[in-house]
Amino acid sequence: MVKICCIGAGYVGGPTMAVIAVKCPAIEVVVVDISKPRIDAWNSDKLPIYEPGLDEVVKACRGRNLFFSTDVEKHVAEADIIFVSVNTPTKTRGLGAGKAADLTYWESAARMIADVSKSDKIVVEKSTVPVKTAEAIEKILTHNSKGINYQILSNPEFLAEGTAIEDLFKPDRVLIGGRETPEGRKAVQALKEVYAHWVPEENIITTNLWSAELSKLAANAFLAQRISSVNAMSALCEATGANVSEVSYAIGKDSRIGPKFLNASVGFGGSCFQKDILNLVYICECNGLPEVANYWKQVIKINDYQKSRFVNRVVSSMFNTVSSKKVAVLGFAFKKDTGDTRETPAIDVCKGLLGDKAHVSIYDPEVTEEQIQRDLAMNKFDWDHPMHLQPTSPSAIKQVSVVWDAYEATKGAHAVCILTEWNEFKELDYQKIFDNMQKPAFVFDGRNVVDAEKLREIGFIVYSIGKPLDAWLKDMPAIA
Ligand SMILES: *[C@@H]1O[C@H](CO)[C@@H](O)[C@H](O)[C@H]1NC(C)=O
Ligand SMILES: *[C@@H]1O[C@H](CO)[C@@H](O)[C@H](O)[C@H]1NC(C)=O
Repeated sequence: MVKICCIGAGYVGGPTMAVIAVKCPAIEVVVVDISKPRIDAWNSDKLPIYEPGLDEVVKACRGRNLFFSTDVEKHVAEADIIFVSVNTPTKTRGLGAGKAADLTYWESAARMIADVSKSDKIVVEKSTVPVKTAEAIEKILTHNSKGINYQILSNPEFLAEGTAIEDLFKPDRVLIGGRETPEGRKAVQALKEVYAHWVPEENIITTNLWSAELSKLAANAFLAQRISSVNAMSALCEATGANVSEVSYAIGKDSRIGPKFLNASVGFGGSCFQKDILNLVYICECNGLPEVANYWKQVIKINDYQKSRFVNRVVSSMFNTVSSKKVAVLGFAFKKDTGDTRETPAIDVCKGLLGDKAHVSIYDPEVTEEQIQRDLAMNKFDWDHPMHLQPTSPSAIKQVSVVWDAYEATKGAHAVCILTEWNEFKELDYQKIFDNMQKPAFVFDGRNVVDAEKLREIGFIVYSIGKPLDAWLKDMPAIA
């Protein structure tokens, strides 16, 4: 019986291992983590992360061939294949701060593997790591090998939050990178056989190690670039009277461009896009490629511009001040169907509104009050370093309230900002919301989810990203 162990029970490790276990009943899969609360949660009825379909998959195989444990060393020692899925946050201090990946957790995982191993291992990089990490990890392992043979593979994860289980069941592709030696090829084959239980052979791509590592960064950079491109167009649409939905539709009909990922929004978020691009930028700089670095940096600059443009639009529309005005924020997660708030544009938008002394009332169906207060008190990049958490400033707490209902959030508010495209925001009773708001009542739709025409009929002044502006908004040009 093949034994798999995964170090790190987070967003990637948990769902990926659950799907391997459910698809490969003959393989024993153990997910280990040093965090006892996290492992306890995986062993409970309330899993530590929310993903549609995840509960069912875990229930189907937990206790059968899927286990969650804090006994890290025992399970690492017993495993044939070890996935390493630990945090690779952006460094907050020292060389490369704000750009380079912090490999502290990775290095200690590698040293621990070297310490406890008594048999040959295949070690698989599952977290997004900078190119050539495998080489460093390989060095740590081989210099401490005690005669054990280690093969390092890169098997980057392409799953998207909110559709993780679906993506894992039917991946566009599985990518496995390894050394181009006979042992390396054997290790690639062993991992390929695991995926071949449910993924068609032609969808499993094998490459060299560096190509696999770089492909992950490149894929995320291209996706983020698409969003920044359409968001850049959205600013031009507003200025010219073009309609970004029509532009997106028209360009998406070109089969070379394709229709996906062309929605204008208040900006991209999530744990990967910004981090991976910063990483790419850093790698380019280290390799003497400043022009390439600047090219990718611009993708992040446009994303930041889009968020500040949104805040400026809100403030300028409301007579250039939101001081002491209640602003309802609907949606805080970085996208719908997830409770994840890492790098969500809502953080920067709320901070912008709070900076202008607004009272912000937030509702999100999946994000807890504790999480929101923590996000709004944190500095950039702190989310990955829970131990460096700073205390929430008391004044920020007073200006923010978190409620469990969209009607409660909007009651008495001057404006509504929609920052996540949750389906339920399309179906709200906007007449009721309008009746309970201050007048004039504004809706700033950062995700183009509402039917702007209907809302205008009710009496709202509506701003939709990238759409022709209401006369009111035209008269109050945003200071960009
Ligand atoms: C923008 O275009 C979409 C798609 O054609 C359309 O449904 C919408 O009404 C347009 N919005 C405005 C404000 O013209
Ligand atoms: C993105 O745009 C497409 C096409 O206009 C639309 O069908 C889809 O619902 C939009 N997605 C989101 C998340 O708004």
